[in-house]
This record gives sequence, structure tokens and C-alpha cells, in this order.
Amino acid sequence: MHYLRLLKSFGVASLAGLLPALFVSPLSAQDVELNYQFFKNEVQPVFLAKRDGNIRCVQCHGRSSSFRIQPLDEHQLFFTEEQSRMNFESASQFVLPGEDPLKSRFLTHPLASNAGGDAFHGGGTHFHSIYDPEWRIMADWVAGATSRRAPSSVEVRIIQTNAAGDDSHVIDPVTNKSIGRITDIEIPHGVVGAPDGSQIYITNEALHSLDIVDSRTMRVKRRIPLSGRPNNVGVTSDGRKVYVAIMEMPGSVDVIDVQKMENIKTIPVNGAIHNVYVTPDSRHAVAGSIQTSTINVIDTATDELVWELEMDSGIRPMTFNTKSDGSTDKIFVQLSGFHGFAVVDFDQRREVARVEHPPATGQEAHYDGLQGAPAHGLGVPPDGKTVWSTSKVYSTVYIHSLPDLKEVGQVYVGQHPEWVTFTPDGKTAYIGAAGDHVTFAVDVKSMKTVARIPVGQVPKRVAMVRMAVD
Ligand code: HEC
Repeated sequence: MHYLRLLKSFGVASLAGLLPALFVSPLSAQDVELNYQFFKNEVQPVFLAKRDGNIRCVQCHGRSSSFRIQPLDEHQLFFTEEQSRMNFESASQFVLPGEDPLKSRFLTHPLASNAGGDAFHGGGTHFHSIYDPEWRIMADWVAGATSRRAPSSVEVRIIQTNAAGDDSHVIDPVTNKSIGRITDIEIPHGVVGAPDGSQIYITNEALHSLDIVDSRTMRVKRRIPLSGRPNNVGVTSDGRKVYVAIMEMPGSVDVIDVQKMENIKTIPVNGAIHNVYVTPDSRHAVAGSIQTSTINVIDTATDELVWELEMDSGIRPMTFNTKSDGSTDKIFVQLSGFHGFAVVDFDQRREVARVEHPPATGQEAHYDGLQGAPAHGLGVPPDGKTVWSTSKVYSTVYIHSLPDLKEVGQVYVGQHPEWVTFTPDGKTAYIGAAGDHVTFAVDVKSMKTVARIPVGQVPKRVAMVRMAVD
């Protein structure tokens, strides 16, 4: 158990004198060494993070003060090794390793005075309590931490990215309320979560980066430079690799090694890539191009393009179902200018069926602002028994049974409905209604809307993730 939680559960109000015994044991304070890697990867992001109402630490401390943070160049997304070493040396001067954290100026200066912080900091209050997750990372470093604890408890969350916003909303599927915002990512595009709940990956179209968000702080921890402008993103089920669609000709998919936090390969494919997905069995990454109408299939073991299929129109969202052994059965794919979806047999590598949506009962057709995609959202719930396809024209999600592809339901899901995701228990579907700035929650069994959750500007991509709650 974390030392602060321990204190909290004992109801201990004052930290002074108590902490060293609890968190450095069995080492005495003199034996505690400050860990450079932990500082570099975990503490430095706090200096770069944008907290609401605050200026970033690096803005001020890059210029003056005896506590010096090396400034970043205009296009630099993270500190170099040399800069990190210098920052480490500088910050180390303001801490007493292994001692009561409230004796370290590094920790008390940006902390609210009524929470044990100093009376004045020229940079203001950044942390309102010692339970603030960013402050705790800094305190862990001072206590000698060498690596970040794995989350001890995770919960299912729905992340709604706002395509015209500078934020993404975090929704609790139990209460169907937005419980937080991930900020500081202008033009967030795709989102997926690390399977262990430690972090979230969001593509950043403004900076051409894959932004790694710490699920405990909900802040950007690292921005990984990409080979071009990104669109969507996928993650392998072991959590080790993230695939990013690069929306630039002639076409590529970037591979990010999560452990190294590095862009390790740019895989050439056929056409600028809009969406990339990792199949449920994690054996393939499937990338679709609007420009060349091709589906590109990458083997995740070798990170090579293994086959491609040209369709008769641009590739929009895709989703998959699986055979009983878990391998991929069909790719469901929406196409530019088509109001419905096509079905591709994964083994046969060809189109085997097509479903066109009829006018929705009781709904008027809208043709404004379709952006070439009358249908732009697909999902298969965990039981694999249906496929859900959204229509911007009729503000409706069409539900078809599998494998027979019979329409079994229609649900009104707001203006310009977009992506679809499901809770792992398969009970609830979440759909971003881009025109209403709302995320719809639909009960899968009854096919009834159970909540309309206000989110940000033009919510499109939505994803189920797991996030740490400790
Ligand atoms: C708006 C500018 C500004 C920001 C933002 C800012 N600081 Fe400061 N900081 C100052 C100034 C000015 C001083 C020197 C005056 C003082 O001691 O408060 C200072 C002093 C400090 C000191 C004491 C250095 C010494 O010489 O004793 C520490 C430690 C510190 N800041 C840490 C931080 C951290 C960590 C952050 C971000 C979480 C931060 N500051 C953000 C302006 C800023």
C-alpha cells in the first residue's frame, strides 16, 4: 500500500516525523539515493504539464531562479538526455532524500500552504494537497522510488475525444457522468488504453505526436514524435506496441515501443492511413486508406505488410468479429459515399457481403457536413452477436444480427453520430454525437438510450479503456 494511502486510512493529519519511518524502511534516510531514470521519465513530465490556471514550471524556471529547468526548443517535445541530467542535478539541490517530504523545498514550494506547503512561491500553487497524483510522483522520487508502481486497482472508463476541442472527456460507465478531462492535447484524434490501466494513448494532430497520458494524473506524460500527421491508433493486447495511422501520402503506419517510449518503425503501406486497428487476437494491425481505397494488413510479429485489398471506395471505420478460436473472422468496413457497410472475409481476403441502410423510421435525412462519410462508426459488442453501424444522414445507429446480417434494431443517437464502443460486459454502447456535443449511452439489450452525457466540441472517436483509480 502506498504510504500516503496508509496515512489516510489511519487518519493521520500531520506528516511530520511519521513519514520517514513508514516509507523508507528498512533503509535509513542516509541510504536513499535519488533515481535518475525515475526523475527523467516520471518527474520531468510534471515540469511540462499544463495545469488549469497555472503556467508550466518550465516557462518560468527555464529563465531564472536557482532551480533551473532547461528550456525546450520550439519543436522539441521532451528533454534530451543532457538536459535531463542538468535538470536532475538542479532539482536534487532542493530535496532531502528519504526525509519527511515536507522538508524538501522542491515539494513544499509548489504546494498549497494550508496543505503543508511554503507561505509563498513566485510561481503560485500547483498542488492543493499531498494526495495530488503529480505531487505524489515528485514525493516518491524524493523517497527514493526507482520505478512507478503498477496500478493496484483499475476501473473501466469511456474516453470521448472532442474533434474540435482541446480536450477529451473521461466518463464513468457506472454513473454515466463525465468525471474528468484530459487537457493540453489540441486536436486529439484517436484514443486507446494500455491494457493494464496505467496509461492512455491519444494521437495529437497539432503536434504530430502520440501523447502518452498517465491515467492517475490524467496529464500528458510524454509526446512521441511521429513521421507525419496522425489519425487513429491501436494497441496490442500485451500492451507492448502502439500502431499509429499516418495520414500522409504515400502512406505509413508508425510503431511505438511502449516500454522504450520510442517510435521504432515506420511501416510503408499503400496510401495515407485514416484508421488503424489491432485485431482482437492481436496478430494483425489493419490500416485503411481513404485515398487509395485499400485495406492494408500488417503482421504484428514482423511489423511487415502481409496483404492488401483494394475496395471500390475510400476506407472509413472498420471493426472485426472473431471465430471461436479467437482469430479474425470478418472485417466490417464503412466506405466513402456509402450509407452502410461492406463485409470482408479475413481468410478469403475478399468482400463477401454489403449492407445498405434504408431510411430510418421516423427520421428526416440530413446531407449537410457529411465529410464524404454518410456512415462513420462501427462496433461489435463483446458477445459478437451484432454489428452496430451509425448513420449521420439519419442520426441513427442500425443494429444487425451476426452472422446473418439481418437488421434487428434502430436507435436515434443524436446529430452526426460517430464512433461506437462497448463496456467489457457488453451491456452498454457509447456513441459520440458530434452535432450535439453529447455522448449517448445505449442499453444493448433493450436498445434504449439510458443517458446523454454532455462532453466537449464535436465528439467523434470514443473508446473503452481501463484506468488506475488508486
Ligand atoms: C510563474 C512562474 C513560475 C512557475 C510556473 C513556477 N515557478 Fe517555481 N519559482 C518561481 C519564482 C519567481 C521563484 C523564486 C521566488 C520564490 O522562492 O518563490 C520560484 C522558486 C521555486 C523553488 C525554490 C527555488 C529556490 O531557489 O529556493 C522551487 C523548488 C520551485 N520554484 C519549484 C517549482 C515547480 C516544481 C514548479 C511547477 C510545479 C514551479 N516552481 C513553477 C516562479 C515559478
